[in-house]
Amino acid sequence: MADDIHLTIDGQPASVPAGTTILEAARSIGIQIPTICVHEACTANALCRLCVVEVEGARVLAPSCVAQVSQGMQVSTRSERVERSRRTILEMLDSTVDLSDSPEILEFFDAYQVDRLRFPGAERRDPTVIDDNPMYVRDYAKCVLCWRCVQVCAEDAQYTFAINFSGRGFETQIGTFFDQSMPQTTCVFCGQCVGVCPTGALKPKRQWLLEQGRSLDEVMQATGMGRKKRRSG
Ligand code: SF4
Ligand code: FES
Repeated sequence: MADDIHLTIDGQPASVPAGTTILEAARSIGIQIPTICVHEACTANALCRLCVVEVEGARVLAPSCVAQVSQGMQVSTRSERVERSRRTILEMLDSTVDLSDSPEILEFFDAYQVDRLRFPGAERRDPTVIDDNPMYVRDYAKCVLCWRCVQVCAEDAQYTFAINFSGRGFETQIGTFFDQSMPQTTCVFCGQCVGVCPTGALKPKRQWLLEQGRSLDEVMQATGMGRKKRRSG
């Protein structure tokens, strides 16, 4: 269309409406950019920075999930600088977070030649699993702070506001207000947070118990699905 923005991405021409993000523009011509924090159900917040790209003439790398296209822009999604940045982000995540349940993230390791021993002395995030309700468990040792769960719990979907960030710096984690147990919060156990979590930090309790080797009967009892006694009379 006449009003479209024309740009090149990795040397390929693209024409997209104004307001399109670089990530969307790249996808429109078949170029895939790795992402973690962005999700189709969530407003993009540019938290993980894995989606950075190099824009000619710009001093810093741009997070493509929020940066919008502009006329004549020349974007590189695979420059040496971009690849080095993504590799470092993945290596830092790997050194502090348990990514064993994060297939979407582990997929990027080969592509970016991640060195899993790059930061051997890094302190790992290792809080204990929170098992405080019959529906799901929270294992924040696996949390990459993508914020998807907080967003779907708030304005992006549910308007429940049961969880948010707590703490600062390395101590930052997702939590409830005043560290209340989940049943004490406004949580309605809709399961949307579990559905968008990319790392297994939020997991259905039945799945978690089965992974712990618990029997089906134990699982059903623990999740409130055990056989109820018939009322007599
Ligand atoms: S619990 Fe899951 S969805 Fe929530 S911030 Fe952590 S990784 Fe993201
Ligand atoms: S996907 Fe863009 S910053 Fe996370």
